Order: sequence, then C-alpha cells, then structure tokens
Amino acid sequence: MNSDFNKIGFIGAGNMATAIITGLIKEGINPKDIYVHDIDIDKLNKIKKKFNIIALDNNVEILKKAKIIFLAVKPHIYPIILDEIKNDITDNHVLISMAAGISTDYIYKILDEEKNIIRIMPNTPALIGEGVIAMCPNKKINSNIFKYVKNLLSCLGEIELIDESLINAVTGVSGSGPAYVFMFIEALADGGVLMGLSREQAYRMAAQTLIGAAKMYMETKTHPGELKDMVCSPGGTTIEAVYALEKHNFRASIIEAVKVCTQRGEELSK
Ligand SMILES: NC(=O)c1ccc[n+]([C@@H]2O[C@H](COP(=O)([O-])OP(=O)(O)OC[C@H]3O[C@@H](n4cnc5c(N)ncnc54)[C@H](OP(=O)(O)O)[C@@H]3O)[C@@H](O)[C@H]2O)c1
Repeated sequence: MNSDFNKIGFIGAGNMATAIITGLIKEGINPKDIYVHDIDIDKLNKIKKKFNIIALDNNVEILKKAKIIFLAVKPHIYPIILDEIKNDITDNHVLISMAAGISTDYIYKILDEEKNIIRIMPNTPALIGEGVIAMCPNKKINSNIFKYVKNLLSCLGEIELIDESLINAVTGVSGSGPAYVFMFIEALADGGVLMGLSREQAYRMAAQTLIGAAKMYMETKTHPGELKDMVCSPGGTTIEAVYALEKHNFRASIIEAVKVCTQRGEELSK
C-alpha cells in the first residue's frame, strides 16, 4: 500500500481527536506522521506539545500532508470545513467522518461528488483503548485501505462493522451510552452513601461491579437474564432490589433513552 497512508491528519483537536491520537501513538504511530489543525490556537498548541505532533496553520495544509483525514469537529462545523477543503480532496484521500447525524449523502452533496469516506461512531472510552468504534465504509473505499484504517482504529477498542442505516442506533447504544453508564455508577454509589458507605468506596465498588459484570458477560456469553437469575436467591435481597427496579421502570427507562437518542440522531440527519 502507498506509504502516504501512514500520514494521518486531524481537522479539530478536541476530545475525539485527543482520544484517537492517544491510541495511535500507543500503537506505535510516529508522532511526526500526525498532522493537526484547530481553529482554537491555544488548543492546537496544547495538543502539539502534549503528543509532539505537527500543528499546521489551516485545514487545506492538512490535506496536503496527510491522506487519512479525521474530521474531528462538531456536526454544525462540517459544512464549513467541507467547503474549505473540497477542492483539495483527491481520490487518494480517505475522509473519516465521526459526527452524529452527518450522513455520507450529506457530505457528497457539499463536496458535489462521492469521495472515499468511512463513517465511524466512536465513544469516549476510546481514550483508554476500551471504546466501541462502529465503522461503515462507502462503496468507493478500496478493501486494503479499509483494512488498514480498521487496524489503525482497533487501538481504540472493539470495532463493529455496520450498515450506515443503523448508525443512529449505534449512537443510542454505544456512542452516547457512556453517559448513561456514568449516571448508573453515580446512582449506585449514591445508594451506597445513603446506606452509610464512604463516597470513595461506594464509587470504587460501583465501578468495579460494572466492570466485573460486563466482563463476566463477555467471557461467558451467558444470557444477561440468566446471569441476573444467578444472583437472585428465592426470597433474598437481590430479588427485592430487582422488584424495586422493575416497579420504577428501570429497563423501560433505558430502552426509552436509546430510542430517543436514536431518533434525535435521525432528526439531526435531516
Ligand atoms: N465526544 C464524544 O463522546 C463523541 C462520540 C462520538 C462521536 N463524536 C463526534 O466527534 C466529533 C468531535 O467531537 P469532540 O467531542 O471531539 O468535539 P470538540 O471537543 O468540540 O472538538 C472539536 C474541535 O474542533 C475545533 N474547530 C471548530 N471549528 C473548526 C475549524 N473550522 N477548523 C478546525 N477546527 C475547528 C473546535 O474549536 P472550538 O471549540 O473553538 O469551536 C474544537 O477544538 C463530533 O462531530 C462529535 O459528534 C463525539
């Protein structure tokens, strides 16, 4: 494959760019092969210093230096940056779009033609290499390049290949999911504090319980309902708590959260 693909560019130097750059450098990508531009000069200087990567003056320069380009700006900024770079995108570039609600069709409309695009939906645990990264390549992408990008992104967590029609559902589950999980940890710990545990211990116990239960599911592949049943002895304490959760619509609340999040993604796509 063309060695130019080792040069990776970032438009935007915020949370997601930082998470991805952290993973890439951990995986052994040379910081001098990573180029970044951000409109916020302080942020640009900070990220440059933090990773020893190359900061450039504008977004067009990023396309001149790199072939794989992460569009790491908020969705409402997409039309601005796409308009800025559209005349400099060649068939050798691969654009990686990660914005919620920005479809590839929308991008083609601004660019006036179909270019190499991979749409991804990452989540913030990518910062520590434990993310979920859903990927959907467009039809133009050459399979070797797709494999290369997939391999690059695997340093951020688990890769899931999906059809673009399902990307809003991915936002509902894993893209936005960390927020619900943090709320769950906070609530579980609050319950512990209410019952007399120290705040610090309660947070640690709540978080480790979540990690342990998640790992147990991943390792045993046993149905979550069956794993739950294993904790519930007849007439015991856990089934009492499960009854309280059911009475307060615990499962329905989460299902509803995924539904409205997905619908919001769909609304934003229009
Ligand atoms: N964070 C998440 O959990 C998550 C999950 C999945 C997908 N995403 C997607 O990832 C994308 C990036 O999110 P983020 O959380 O990393 O955003 P962020 O932290 O706000 O970073 C975006 C950066 O881009 C800069 N910027 C604005 N206009 C620019 C321009 N014309 N050229 C270059 N840089 C520009 C912003 O500067 P200013 O702050 O000065 O505007 C900001 O520093 C979004 O589209 C989001 O939907 C995020």
